[in-house]
Amino acid sequence: MTTNQQPPAFSTIQYTRTRTVSVAPDVMRERRLVMGLKGDPHIGVFRLLRSNILMQLREKNWTSIAVVAATPECGKTFVTANLGIALAMEVNQTVLIVDADLGNPQIGWYFGLDVQKGLLDYLQTDVPVEELLVNPGFDRLVVLPGRHTTSKSSELISLPKMTALVDELKTRYQSRIVLFDLPPLLSSDDALLFMPHFDAALLVVEDGKTSPDEVRRSLALLEQTNLVGTVLNKARGAALPHYQRAVSS
Ligand SMILES: Nc1ncnc2c1ncn2[C@@H]1O[C@H](COP(=O)(O)OP(=O)(O)O)[C@@H](O)[C@H]1O
Ligand SMILES: [Mg+2]
Repeated sequence: MTTNQQPPAFSTIQYTRTRTVSVAPDVMRERRLVMGLKGDPHIGVFRLLRSNILMQLREKNWTSIAVVAATPECGKTFVTANLGIALAMEVNQTVLIVDADLGNPQIGWYFGLDVQKGLLDYLQTDVPVEELLVNPGFDRLVVLPGRHTTSKSSELISLPKMTALVDELKTRYQSRIVLFDLPPLLSSDDALLFMPHFDAALLVVEDGKTSPDEVRRSLALLEQTNLVGTVLNKARGAALPHYQRAVSS
């Protein structure tokens, strides 16, 4: 150790202070955290999704992905949580999942976390981000959980503080992919306000529930955004999510 040490970088501080709370196997099974379950048939699908996404991110030098869906309940959080684990399973790849769906934050639930403080507390009361980060027991994966708010979430996530945080999370964590679980696209303008801050988006569509019109409206809203692909979730007949890489224009 040298005597004239530089102050630790933000990422170093985060690493040493992050709490570890491992997810119990029965919680993973009950909550469909399938990437943590040995032999689950979804594992192959998420690995494929990971490879396709990583290829695009590395090609384009992108690090931040917004996971979006037209409406609630399509499986956006299911995909975010499991994709986050899949990406973190790659050696040399660290991942941060940010629960920015403040109207219905579910990332903590998927990982079995008892969320006392979350993104909301950073936004409302300046709780340092480092105090909010949790390692859910998977190497190289860190979660910034949300906490539910009844106040209008668009007012919160459109705060300059939120956009500054997003920009900081993207740039200060080197070689880290940041996945953002965003509010539903068609329910409010929350997600849209945010889109310019992300490198790319992944659209989750629920088979049999997301209508063609909702898909069209979502794609229109994402027109200015780089799409890394679409996940057809809860696919009838297939039972597993189906991934389609975006056709680049
Ligand atoms: N592929 C799937 N197969 C079965 N159930 C799923 C699948 N994806 C999500 N679900 C379930 O559907 C519900 C909504 O998923 P969730 O990820 O919370 O939706 P969203 O975040 O889009 O609101 C949850 O109960 C979740 O466990
Ligand atoms: Mg959700």
